[in-house]
Amino acid sequence: METHDWNAEELRRHGAAAMEWVAHYLENIRDFPVLPRMKPGDLVDALPREAPLEGEPVEAIFADFEAKILPAVNHWNHPRFHAYFSVSASGPGIVGELLSAALNVNGMLWMSCPAAVELELVVMGWLRQWLGLPEAFFGMIHDTASTSTLHAIGAARAAADPALREEGASPGLVLYTSEHAHSSVEKAAMALGIGRKNVRKIPVDESWRMRPDLLEKAVREDRQAGRRPFCVVSTVGTTSVASVDPVAEIQEVAGREGLWHHIDAAYGGAAAMLEENRWMLAGAERADSLVMNPHKWLFTPIDCSAFFCRRPEMLREAFSLTPPYLASKEDPRAVHLMDYRIALGSRFRALKLWFVMRHFGYRRVCAIIRQHIAWAKELAAEMAAHPKLEVAAPVLMSLVCFRHREGDEATRRLMQRVNESGVAFLSGNVLGGRQVARIAIGNIRTAREDVRTTWEAVRRAAEEA
Ligand SMILES: Cc1ncc(COP(=O)(O)O)c(C=O)c1O
Repeated sequence: METHDWNAEELRRHGAAAMEWVAHYLENIRDFPVLPRMKPGDLVDALPREAPLEGEPVEAIFADFEAKILPAVNHWNHPRFHAYFSVSASGPGIVGELLSAALNVNGMLWMSCPAAVELELVVMGWLRQWLGLPEAFFGMIHDTASTSTLHAIGAARAAADPALREEGASPGLVLYTSEHAHSSVEKAAMALGIGRKNVRKIPVDESWRMRPDLLEKAVREDRQAGRRPFCVVSTVGTTSVASVDPVAEIQEVAGREGLWHHIDAAYGGAAAMLEENRWMLAGAERADSLVMNPHKWLFTPIDCSAFFCRRPEMLREAFSLTPPYLASKEDPRAVHLMDYRIALGSRFRALKLWFVMRHFGYRRVCAIIRQHIAWAKELAAEMAAHPKLEVAAPVLMSLVCFRHREGDEATRRLMQRVNESGVAFLSGNVLGGRQVARIAIGNIRTAREDVRTTWEAVRRAAEEA
């Protein structure tokens, strides 16, 4: 039967060519500079302004993909991509993503695709076990941690204010987080009408952990001033130094003060799955919600953010609204994910996570993560022994923060040299008012030799800076 789409033969041919390209790309990824050598606007200038009027053969599109798009790609899958939190699309993750695009289902309601909904519940149940969380946590997948945290704070606001759903915004609510929390927390507060001035950034101790005593004090002062404390967000694996807030102590304060406790373990959740790191999430079993991103350090292609909530009824209170065309028969086993989130529809993200979790299994995942942490510690030890470098924070996970002893300019020059060399990509941050460079290890294809190569590039740049 003739249709407008490719026939099976065309799909086989182009699909096989694309998969061959992917295999070759990943096999030879070390040949690419991690960062593109381009200026802002280069790609825009290289592409036609006029929208296509007539179609073109896919070979022509593919040729431009290689000639124009690829040189503008920042290779997140490169084993020496150490900026931000490095990520990786593992083979099983890529296959899962491909199948999900092919099925193209929408997991908004149980009846819109039972497999998408039920597999999501199953893999989130598995991940809950890997994280050591109790069964009471309902799990679902969002695109990003920013979205997950926004839903957590939205549910917290609904819990604090039963009239909110019908009456609208309620003034006086105050949210607490550490001064090292990710900006997504504050952004969620902005988007939900809490307001940035009602976000208290609680100071940290000498190890960059939120101070529960100062949290308690801030809550008391806000109450005395007639405001309404409603939520605290702690972090397990801060973006700046991978520090771990004292979750159990913060939970104690949250319990006493009736605050919703959300844990941002977007990056650190992966490290916390290791037996020796169970302490990182001790107390999380009593928290209200938690986010952990498989697209950060669990070898799953972006996007995939795992969100757990112990009070899903509050997600429903905040986010459910069923138009008549989507009404369906109630069945306790038919979960409608749209009732727990802003978005109606969703991709079949559980499929790639299922491939990754099943293929590697808990033991191998832990072995890889353990290796990353060991390499980060090894790297930090070499830096500490180098006369021109100093390590800026203890290494608990796979993030090394360091600086040049000669000051901020020298640290910036060092980063620039390494990044321009194309050998590795580091990111920067300001810590305690001083410039630091960050190296995150988290890619499944990173080998010890890659870390050695990065170290050589850093060492050389430090000596020249
Ligand atoms: C601790 C932490 N939370 C949240 C985020 C936001 O992640 P996403 O891009 O998934 O929204 C990040 C990003 O690096 C992060 O480090």
